[in-house]
Order: sequence, then structure tokens, then C-alpha cells
Amino acid sequence: MSFVGMPLEGKKILLVIAGGIAAYKSLDLIRRLRERGAKVRVIMTRAAQEFVTPLAVGAVAGERPFTELFDLSAEFDIGHIRLAREPDLIVVAPATADLMAKMVQGRADDLASTVLLATERRILLAPAMNPAMWNNPATRRNAERLQADGVAFIGPEAGEMAESGERGVGRMSEPLAITAAVEKNLFDLPARDALIGKKILVTSGPTREPIDPVRYISNHSSGKQGHALARMAAQAGAEVVLVSGPVNLPDPSGVKTIHVETAQEMLNASENALPADAAIFAAAVADWRVTQEAAQKMKKQDGKLPVLSFAENPDILATISRHSNLRPRLVIGFAAETEKLIDNARAKLLKKGCDWIVANDVSTGTSTFGGTSNEVHIVTANGVESWPMQSKDAVAAGLVKKIAATLGGAQ
Ligand code: CTP
Repeated sequence: MSFVGMPLEGKKILLVIAGGIAAYKSLDLIRRLRERGAKVRVIMTRAAQEFVTPLAVGAVAGERPFTELFDLSAEFDIGHIRLAREPDLIVVAPATADLMAKMVQGRADDLASTVLLATERRILLAPAMNPAMWNNPATRRNAERLQADGVAFIGPEAGEMAESGERGVGRMSEPLAITAAVEKNLFDLPARDALIGKKILVTSGPTREPIDPVRYISNHSSGKQGHALARMAAQAGAEVVLVSGPVNLPDPSGVKTIHVETAQEMLNASENALPADAAIFAAAVADWRVTQEAAQKMKKQDGKLPVLSFAENPDILATISRHSNLRPRLVIGFAAETEKLIDNARAKLLKKGCDWIVANDVSTGTSTFGGTSNEVHIVTANGVESWPMQSKDAVAAGLVKKIAATLGGAQ
């Protein structure tokens, strides 16, 4: 049989099955991954074995699942450290509230949690639990923390639970959706020491320009791309300063995050972060601010409409690109365009004086703003590199690798 062209050909997936009724779907997940060419190795927690048997899992996976931390024959044969190191991606499906809590705390009291703590590979969680457990503030906090630590999620979905006809968000994503997420998350992370000794400045999110004490002008930027870049650069060993506008994201792990509101504050914080080896301007800075912010809340005046006057905001990217003595060696801008993407990006490269422009299409129908995927083109003086549609984390990993290659860090 020929496997040529199979999307997961040659990829090694470690599947961790935790204890939940959704574990029955993991059998189908194993089958879907294998029919796409992946080699699947499985760890089952003790609770998982109450829902599906190791025999059934072994039959579908084509090899015995691993169940014990101190299994002498398995330790000599494979060993938990090798289990943690050899896969290209670790998938936890179903991921239970308990296993997520353990991951947040860094606990390692069984084989699954030990491997999850010992690995440097990317981890994809497919949570499944009762809606009340998913909505519990403890689980919300844990999910946020894991995301800020770089763990990827698929689901859970809304719908009827396997148990007792209950409804709400908590259903594990279907095996085919998890398989698609596996394909999206299979990218190489930058080396852990790729940016050691380098300082990187990143701006992220929107800015918020006040009209009066309760109103403001802003935009739909979620900050996902900028935050992913900051996290990825830190994971590659860089000292990272993230200057973030208001976003609904936790501060990334290992990153010094400075919170700002306005473009002027973002400029000040960015200048204060210099010197840096590279600066990445992923923020969607509001182009204009209201000239005179009202000191008190503006009241309705019998149908008379307020007139706002605007002033142009400082261009942070252009200012730092042209900094007389503290210009970072590598200055990277983003370009959000709705038409003539490459032409406009080239013009922006010249106008702003930066080294690269990461151009993306934000026209209607694309889900760049707020979404988790991004199709980017890297425009430099030497030409254009077009990358396929991929997750924002994968874009961040690719950019960090390219930055490391350019700065020539320890490899
Ligand atoms: N940028 C900035 N400061 C501003 C405006 C933009 O630092 N006041 C940066 C953004 O972070 C991004 C790049 O400039 O890296 C391009 O942003 P974009 O909104 O695409 O361009 P604009 O300069 O606003 O140009 P236009 O609105 O005309 O497309």
C-alpha cells in the first residue's frame, strides 16, 4: 500500500486518553489518525481504562497502550522520557478537568501527567466534561493559563452530552475535527535556544482612544497573533517585552507584559523598551485620536449631534524604524489590507522604513481578525515569501525561526 500524499504520513502522534465517557470516541480518533498515515502511540490514565479497555485501544492502535509510570518492562523498552520526546505532537482526548488542573500545577503522579510535564513538544487538548465543570471558574482559569503556556485547544463543543441527555458546552469535538486540528498543529517549534541572549519587543492588540470617560474608538484586533509571537519568542529563549493594548488574553508565560490603552502610551512603552535586537509591530494601532477628550460624560442635547475632531496618532513602527541611535537591527511591521495586498505591503515597507512587512488580508470573508488562522506574505527588500493558511501559532513559530536565522542566535 502506498502512503504517498497522506496528510499525516510519517508523523508520530502520542494520544493521551484520560478518564471520561468521551473516551469511546478516542478509538475512532486513533483509526482516523492512522488512516491518514500517522503512527499513533497511546497512554491511558487509570480512569480511562474504566471507559475503554487497553485491549480495544491496542487493537485499533496496532500496539499496546502504555498505562503505568513504573512499568519495568515498558521503562526498559521505551521509558517515559522517550515517550515525551519522540512524538511530533501530543494529543489529549478526552482531556478531563482533573488532567488540565494537574497540567497547570505541573504535577506528575502518573504516566500521563509525567509525560505531559516532561515533554517539549506541542500539546493539543480536546476537553470533554460536564458543562458545569467546563464553566466552573477553576476550569476557566486553568484553560486560560494553559493557552498562555502555549497549549492548543480544540473544542469542547455545545450539544448533548453522552451522559443523561444534558446540554451545554462540554462535548468533546468529533474525531474528524480533532484530526483537522492535529494537521493544523503539526508544525515545528523553534529551538529552545534559538533566541537566547536576544531581546525582542512586540506590540499587540488594538489601541483604545478615549472620547469621554466612558466612550472610545478602537478596532477588532484580538491580539492573538502578537501574543503568540511574544510567547513563541520567549519559548525560544528571548527576553521579550510585550506592549499590549486591551485584549481578552492572559499575559503569555515568561514575557514581560506592559498594558497600555492609547497609541501614545503604546509608543512611550515601546520606546522605553529599547534597546532591542528585533521589534515586531503586530498591534492594530488606531490611526486617529479625538483631539479633545471630554472631561465629563457627553450628554444628549435635544437632538443636537456631537462633532468630534481628530488628530493623527504617532506611527509607532515608523518612529522606531527611524530611531536615530536605538533602531533595532530587525524591525518588522504587519499590514492589514483589504485590497492590493502585496503592492500595498511593498509601499508600506518603504514608507515606514522597516525590514519586513507581514501582510495579511483582512477583507470580509477572511477570519483574520479574531480568528485563529492566518495566511501571510512576508515582504522584504529581496522579494515576497507566501506562506499557506495556517494557525496563528504556526505563523508565530515560522516568524520566530526566521527572526532567529536573521539575527544569528545560538542554534
Ligand atoms: N502602526 C503603528 N502605529 C500606527 C499605525 C500603524 O505602529 N499609528 C503599525 C502597525 O502595528 C503595523 C503597521 O504599522 O505593523 C501597518 O499597520 P496598518 O494599519 O496596516 O497600516 P497604516 O499605517 O494604518 O496604514 P493604512 O491605514 O493607510 O493602511
